[in-house]
Parts: sequence; C-alpha cells; structure tokens
Amino acid sequence: MHRNALRRLLHARRLTVSLGAAALMAAGTATIAQTAAPAAPAASGGKLKVGFMLPYTGTYAALGTAIENGFRMYVGQQGGKLGGRDVEYFKVDDESDPAKAPENATKLIRRDQVDVVVGTVHSGVQMGIVKVAKENNTLLIIPNAGVDEATGPLCGANIFRSSFSNWQPGYAMGHVLAERGMKKVVTLTWKYAAGEQSVKGFKEAFESKGGKVIKELSLPFPNVEFQALITEVASLKPDAVFVFFAGGGAVKFVKDWQAAGLKDKIPLYGSGFLTDGTLEAQGAAAQGLETTLHYADGLTNARDKTFRLDYAKTYKLQPDVYAVQGYDAAQLLAAGANAVKGDMTRKAEVIKAMEAARVDSPRGAFTLSRAHNPVQDFYLRKVDGRENKLSSVAVKSLADPARGCRL
Ligand code: PHB
Repeated sequence: MHRNALRRLLHARRLTVSLGAAALMAAGTATIAQTAAPAAPAASGGKLKVGFMLPYTGTYAALGTAIENGFRMYVGQQGGKLGGRDVEYFKVDDESDPAKAPENATKLIRRDQVDVVVGTVHSGVQMGIVKVAKENNTLLIIPNAGVDEATGPLCGANIFRSSFSNWQPGYAMGHVLAERGMKKVVTLTWKYAAGEQSVKGFKEAFESKGGKVIKELSLPFPNVEFQALITEVASLKPDAVFVFFAGGGAVKFVKDWQAAGLKDKIPLYGSGFLTDGTLEAQGAAAQGLETTLHYADGLTNARDKTFRLDYAKTYKLQPDVYAVQGYDAAQLLAAGANAVKGDMTRKAEVIKAMEAARVDSPRGAFTLSRAHNPVQDFYLRKVDGRENKLSSVAVKSLADPARGCRL
C-alpha cells in the first residue's frame, strides 16, 4: 500500500476508536442523566447508588465487562436489592488511564453521589481512585487492581478489595518454581505497578528458597512490541521465564512466544492473568501453560458450580477470575448494606460488617486481612483446551504482608 494511503488508514482507524469511546461515554452520560434522581441522602428510602469505574475500552476492556457482569449477576439474584434498597448503577470508562483517574472518580462521588465506588482493573488508575475515595471518605471496593499500596501504606477503613494484591500470585509462583528446583529465571512484564509488584512477590519467594532472578525485563504499558525482548530472553538461556501480562496484551504475548519457537524450549510461567479470559483467543499457543491464581477451572465447591451455570445462562459466556471478583465485590457490599438495612450513612457499622464477612466465593470461601485484602488459597493451574485446570493448591490461605498498613 502507498505510504500516504497507509497513513490515512491508520488515522481513520484511530478516529474510529476514539469516536467509539466518545460514543460510549456519551451513552453513559445520557443514561446517567435519565436515571439520576436529585442527590438523595443515602439514608432515605432512595436507591443504593453503585458507581462502576472500570475500563470499557483498551487492552483491559473485557476485564471491566466481566467484573460488571459478575457484580450485576449477584445483585440480580437478590432481586435487584441490597440492604432492602434497589440498586442503581452509574458508569465511567476509566480507559486504564491513570492521568484521568482523579477526575473520573470525582465525577462518580461528587456529581453522581454514589454510595460506593466499585473500581478498578489497572493499578495505576487505582492509586488515583484510592486518593479520591480517602479524601471524600467514600466506600471503595477494588474488584481487581492489585496495587500493593491500596492494602499496604495507603490502606484505609473505607477501602476494601475483593481480588488480590499484586504480591500474592507472584509469590505463589516463586514458591512453585523454587520447589521444582529451578535456579535461574528471567522476568518480563509491563513496566507499571502490577508487573513490577508481581515480579517483586515472585522474587521474594523464589530467592528466599535458593533461586535467582538473573534479569528483569520490561516494556511500557500497554505496548505489545514483544519481539526484541523475546529475543533477549532466549539469549539469556534461563531455566524458566516468569511474566505478568493480562487482557489483550496477554493474548498477543502468548502467541508471539509460540511464534518465536520458544514454547517447547524455555518453560513459560506467569500469574494466572496470562491465561484467564483469554484462552479462546490464544488457542493452541496457550496449551500446557502453568500459572498461579486465586481461581481455577475444576474447583469442586458448590458455590462455584451454581455460579458457573448461572453465569453461562445469563451471559452466554464462561466466567473468569474477573467475573468472580465482581460477584464477590457485590457479596462484600451486601454484607455491609444488609447489616444496616441499607442505611449507608451508618459507615462504621457498614465497615465492621464488611470486615467480619466470610465471603462464600466461587474461588472458595475467604475472609479479609486487617488491611481488607482477601486471605485466600492460590492454585496452580495448567491450560487444557479452554480451561485453566486445577493442578494443586500452590499456597494455602496466603495473606498479603500488608507492609506499611496501620489499620
Ligand atoms: C493491575 O493493573 O493491577 C492488573 C491488571 C490486570 C490484571 C491484573 C492486575 O489482570
């Protein structure tokens, strides 16, 4: 194709994408305008307002949708009510863009006057939400982002997580590879909190048991130009590679790894986001990959069985870890809202009930640490067809160390 024509095509593509995003935002605003009642005091019989701040565009778009699906499904199962009040939803697309996080979180809290913010996926965006939620003393439930600070030095009474800390899945895999007698590992990830902190957790476990991370490689989020880095990994000849990638980027990485001819040469491991919600797109390239995560296919608890059936029926899709985390965010909120019969102004009681909750999760029941992060089992899984099949429990009841949290 002629170079100018190519440039025009690329420009048109970009325009379509940003127009698509703009249309989505406009649609969101329109819904809000139609449904928002004048800011009613939360104690009144008005609706309980939930603000989703999630990525609906970009490499993490599917993750945001799965979280919302899981959340809505639980509320739907309660007749659309929590604490006796109808639930009303507000939405912002955070675009996985940290720079826009404070403004987006402020919209939900100040303009829409939500009772609770449910967000988000991306660790960098999460930092902005945590700051705004603290300034406004708004209840926040984190349904994915693992940023260690949220349940570490920046922990707070009003901040809860239904997912994991970045440290946790990395630590579990470090433990597994050390037990397997691996000695030299190279790590590769996006250069932002999620990747860096996963690697830190991995390294802590792996090196404390005699392994050595010989090189830490990274590229900016959400770049997917993996080729040069893959070549560098191969030249280092490690025993194994540990990576953090997720969403669309994880699909591309796993395919590139196979295309480079390394699939059967250097063992590839990761936190489970590498292969969760992505298997259909990864196909043969993902077969046999082993990862660690707080969810797996093939668990045997009753809650997971009904959850999976209900999810498949409701959305015509198989659930993934993100759907589970959204579902559990709603369960956690229900524990608080039910304890005060929907009167979310009784904040101290809401928090106390959430802190004490035993969440009957599809991943297996969990409780929260004093920093409000799930204490949970981490599973070793292996890809088989379209499933991350359970192999074993890698680390039982793993609690994030919550360094720097003074709750
Ligand atoms: C994060 O940024 O914390 C993050 C994003 C996607 C994942 C996991 C963690 O799948």
